[in-house]
Amino acid sequence: MNAKVVLSLENITKRYPGVLALNKVSLDFIEGEVHALLGENGAGKSTLIKAVAGAISIDSGFIHIGGQSYQQMTPQLSRGMGIEVIYQEFNLIPTMSAAENIFLGDKVSNKRFVDYGTMRKKTREIFELFKVDINPNALVGELSPAQKQIVEIAKAVSKKVKLLIMDEPSAPLSISEVERMFEIIKQLKEKGVTIIYISHRLEEVFRISDRVSVLRDGEYVDTKLTANTNRKELISLMVGRELKETYPSRLNPPGSIALEVKNLTGNGDRDISFSVCKGEILGISGLVGAGRTELAMMLIGAAPIERGEIWIGGRQVKIRSPKEAIQNGIGLLTEDRKNKGLFLELGVGWNISFPIVRKLSNYGIVDQKSEKDITEHYRERINIKTPNMEQLVINLSGGNQQKVVLAKSLAAESEILIFDEPTRGIDVGAKQEIYQLMCELADNGNAILMITSDMEELLGMSDRIIVLSEGKLVGEVQKEQFSQNYILDLASGIH
Ligand SMILES: Nc1ncnc2c1ncn2[C@@H]1O[C@H](COP(=O)(O)OP(=O)(O)OP(=O)(O)O)[C@@H](O)[C@H]1O
Ligand SMILES: [Mg+2]
Repeated sequence: MNAKVVLSLENITKRYPGVLALNKVSLDFIEGEVHALLGENGAGKSTLIKAVAGAISIDSGFIHIGGQSYQQMTPQLSRGMGIEVIYQEFNLIPTMSAAENIFLGDKVSNKRFVDYGTMRKKTREIFELFKVDINPNALVGELSPAQKQIVEIAKAVSKKVKLLIMDEPSAPLSISEVERMFEIIKQLKEKGVTIIYISHRLEEVFRISDRVSVLRDGEYVDTKLTANTNRKELISLMVGRELKETYPSRLNPPGSIALEVKNLTGNGDRDISFSVCKGEILGISGLVGAGRTELAMMLIGAAPIERGEIWIGGRQVKIRSPKEAIQNGIGLLTEDRKNKGLFLELGVGWNISFPIVRKLSNYGIVDQKSEKDITEHYRERINIKTPNMEQLVINLSGGNQQKVVLAKSLAAESEILIFDEPTRGIDVGAKQEIYQLMCELADNGNAILMITSDMEELLGMSDRIIVLSEGKLVGEVQKEQFSQNYILDLASGIH
């Protein structure tokens, strides 16, 4: 291979209070390669790419690019070099349209005026590449996480990009959208664009990357040719030991019906009827936009129900607000951690114990020891990487924020738990722990509704699966009939 190094990182070090996020990391990137970056939650992946993009300052080291060496990048400098970054957390402006976001900072202007016509036309062309039906005039704040992500990708691709950095781009996407994204990556690669691809989904790394590098606890571990390595080896490089990947077995069969929903209609969903038993994990499958999160929103009282009935433990209940949902023992782990799940400017411990402060209080005074015990228990159990419980959630890595969302829902001990994409952005090791925890909850008699776009997880964890498509329930699948193709066909309306 006639390898031309386009970006070379030398001894990059970045320290945050209590954390050495990057410790003398050196790494080369070659023209036209797809270079995957792997590592556990908090390993330093996002920090490394922020250093390249000039979004943060580094303590020491050099960035060699375009024949120059820099001790510090700036956003302008990296833009000027053709570096585009799709960040893990969205960076779009919610009050502007999709088209305006894509062309923000560009000169699609006709003399003094912004040429909205051209902007919309170009936006439409990019969306056509994705075969998605998003209105260029739609306000970004009103788009779903998947649509937002497509706007992010479109924004980066619309520029003259030489180095495209993608930090977990597939997390909010469903299978078919991921395929289209891969097509676009291939086209860019053929044009000689270098791509740095961060993902916790190893299947993706094997499908599209040429080389893969691993970080662990802020240190560089190794780089492999993707063709010369395997899943097991990469996992052990990431976690520093062997790790068995399994779906835990369950001790108890499902019991009596915990929740029954009859003809539930509202929030874009129509006539949805199903039930879930105590001790059962019911998988909820469907393409992005099928109405799964919308269903969850009605069940937790966050969206109005037009008609239909909800029965809990054989009693009909009314759920008109999140408070009423909690009173009826329904808890939600949200998919959109940045918007609904967390108080980012407050501490880790506070976020976990907030929903249960009442339970932890005696005559209005919080029992600090039990609070500490509970929060510590979950920190250890799912390995939340934080220097202490006072650390602000905003300073945690993406995956560790998701772990806080999870700990918070688990600590609340609701009898009926709705998990919306529980392991999105979570590393392989913690995923195993989460599966174990979910099984323990089921074995203790909790009913679990699991919305997931991860097909392996859906098939591996569910006792039964229901499939939604365009706001309707299109199928119920028993364990004996579980297969990826069957479920995908149902989801896309083939059966
Ligand atoms: N602004 C900050 N203040 C304090 N600590 C920070 C800050 N940003 C990152 N860190 C810490 O630096 C470490 C590396 O974080 P980073 O976001 O790079 O991880 P990551 O590999 O991207 O993980 P993930 O897979 O969860 O996204 C973590 O321990 C994180 O808590
Ligand atoms: Mg990250």
